[in-house]
Amino acid sequence: MSLLAIKYKRGHLEILNQLLLPHKSVYEEIRGVEDGWQAIKAMKVRGAPAIALVGALSLAVEILPMSFSSKEEVENFVAEKLQYLTTARPTAVNIMEAAKHLTLLVKGLSSKVSDTESIKIELIKEMEGMLDKDLSDNKALGRLGAEHMLQLVGADKLKVLTHCNTGSLATSGFGTALGVIRHLSEQDHIDHVFCTETRPYNQGSRLTAYELVYENIPSTLVADSMVSLLMKTKGVHAVVVGADRVVSNGDTANKIGTYQIAIAAKHHGIPFYVAVPSTSIDMSLEHGSDIVIEERPAEELTTVAGVRIAAPGIACWNPAFDVTPAELITGGIVTEHGVFKPSELKKALAGKT
Ligand code: MRU
Repeated sequence: MSLLAIKYKRGHLEILNQLLLPHKSVYEEIRGVEDGWQAIKAMKVRGAPAIALVGALSLAVEILPMSFSSKEEVENFVAEKLQYLTTARPTAVNIMEAAKHLTLLVKGLSSKVSDTESIKIELIKEMEGMLDKDLSDNKALGRLGAEHMLQLVGADKLKVLTHCNTGSLATSGFGTALGVIRHLSEQDHIDHVFCTETRPYNQGSRLTAYELVYENIPSTLVADSMVSLLMKTKGVHAVVVGADRVVSNGDTANKIGTYQIAIAAKHHGIPFYVAVPSTSIDMSLEHGSDIVIEERPAEELTTVAGVRIAAPGIACWNPAFDVTPAELITGGIVTEHGVFKPSELKKALAGKT
């Protein structure tokens, strides 16, 4: 068993094929951008931070053995490949932010550095640095979110509900919302964790449950349809989820089903947190309605592990994400820079995203 989604050393990238979890732990080599794009599209690797990391590192392994005849050639090659990588899945912003940053970096290096080999190596170093940065951001936001939650709830042992998978498997390690839970658990502040199945793709029952069991965190799986009853009867203290994109007014796109959990939390007076590294924040969009929501193939809804469960002939709608309005994010938005009310986000993160 391994919780490491991405294994990388210079020139060699492997991902844990999450389609096979929890039954098999199989790593697959990613030899370049096309492999990276296919793995992201097929959701062998998923979760907003991991998508960006695998995208960038797939480019790193592709360009390492290459030599470029001019600076323009490096610039154009890198910009084209990064642009392509952003097309695999449209909702998570991290890969788009990474593509923007890396494209600008190459341009900047081009104007300062004389040989193409140095530009290439500097770029690879930057992409490699994303792995450590993601891990340290996760650890910081995990601690900050946990401290905030303990203080707001005012209990020593918490019952926490989460949705989808936001753990080690969705990041370079530790996790975002699951990072908050991991930190609480490490400090002995977890009474119980509830994770939803997260239909239709079951990231909760396949992946989050796998991580919770692996870590020996007391936990229980519930179907998505049980959330309101769970809140009414089981004493849930707080909800924490991740995000694929938080926009400047605090509206948040996350795994389908997040919105209804936030509504239920508000009804029951339970604080609702969104935990993200600042790489998941998109200050260029004002409102959640501006976010493109990915729609996935009908088969992900009509079948389970390849077995058809839906009546033949039925039409399907399969949006992969929904948008939770900022006013339902009552606990706060947890980042590596602190925990903020959605209305404070823009000011608090000015110059930091
Ligand atoms: O479709 P997925 O599995 O990529 O969706 C993942 C989520 O919605 C996560 O909550 C989000 O990406 C944050 S992962 C730290």
